[in-house]
Amino acid sequence: MTGPTILAIESSCDETAAAVVKNGKVLNNIVATQLVHQNYGGVVPELASRAHQRNIVPVVAQAMSEASIAVEDLDAVAFTQGPGLLGSLLVGSSFAKSVALSQDIPLIGVHHMKAHIISHFIDEPYPNFPFICLTVSGGHTQLVRVDSPLHMEVLGETKDDAVGEAFDKAAKILGMPYPGGPLVDKHAASGDPFKYNFPRTEMPGNDYSFSGIKTALLYFVRDNSKNDLNFVNSNLADICASYQQALIDMLMKKLVKVSSELGISEIAVAGGVSANGALRKSLAQAANDKGWKLYLPAFEYCTDNAAMIAMNAHYLFQAGSFSDISAGPLPRMPF
Ligand code: KG4
Ligand code: ZN
Repeated sequence: MTGPTILAIESSCDETAAAVVKNGKVLNNIVATQLVHQNYGGVVPELASRAHQRNIVPVVAQAMSEASIAVEDLDAVAFTQGPGLLGSLLVGSSFAKSVALSQDIPLIGVHHMKAHIISHFIDEPYPNFPFICLTVSGGHTQLVRVDSPLHMEVLGETKDDAVGEAFDKAAKILGMPYPGGPLVDKHAASGDPFKYNFPRTEMPGNDYSFSGIKTALLYFVRDNSKNDLNFVNSNLADICASYQQALIDMLMKKLVKVSSELGISEIAVAGGVSANGALRKSLAQAANDKGWKLYLPAFEYCTDNAAMIAMNAHYLFQAGSFSDISAGPLPRMPF
């Protein structure tokens, strides 16, 4: 028996993306990254919506033609319903609804953060259930217990900034363009992670907080630049490495805690920050020390993409879980 053919659209933030999944196999993954935000130190919502509007037709057309799928072949159309930026989500949801209406096929609204976790089921090896997923992106930082593709529970999350935001804001303070996470990672590679001591904020339970460390960096740079205008440039690698180490220590501490409390040693990581070299090293080290089985998605599935939306839509289709045609974008979609 063959499974459904589904077109999936992702437009929650600053990537316009489309993918086709057929019978549980993702056929492609087209992403148009919006470079327009680079000079603004962050995503500008109005510019993001406009870029989605420009990109959506060519991106979907490319996904369909590369997969050799005609619109009549589709069994359903999926879109990122939330969380995300309202204007960005509206472009993807409106497009998906028009496809659903014109073809008289079901519509499937997908939760962006759940889809990041489901990116682990695009390519083998798949994690075994139950597993813990640390999802680290520009908008979210969550520890999730995953019991099946459709059963997940948030164990802990950030109460303020996401860890990706902590990377990007640090990069901005240090004079780098957006998104600065990969640049901090790059400079940190040749720096001393123990040269400077940044605060590791302790939150109760399994939660995180990353806003204090960003403020600490701001004061650190301001104080040290008073007598030495070149302080940041002369110590960039060490500052990046030390700051990054503090973020990684905070992430790892709670991950180790929930893993040992729940007795779960299948550990997955998802989201853009999982591309970070030093985080990957710390995870590999912990996996070695604690006997974890560690799952890291391929780089193209770490950052925002539609393949993960397509895979999640596949499971929702199989479960008969469809959205009403009136389903609108949910910028703060509950987990
Ligand atoms: O998952 P994602 O693509 O988009 C969101 O849903 O937010 O994550 C983007 C975030 C950005 O904050 C970016 O700076 C960060 O992931 N990022 C990194 C690295 N690559 C991407 N942060 C640290 N090191 C990296 N190598
Ligand atoms: Zn994301």
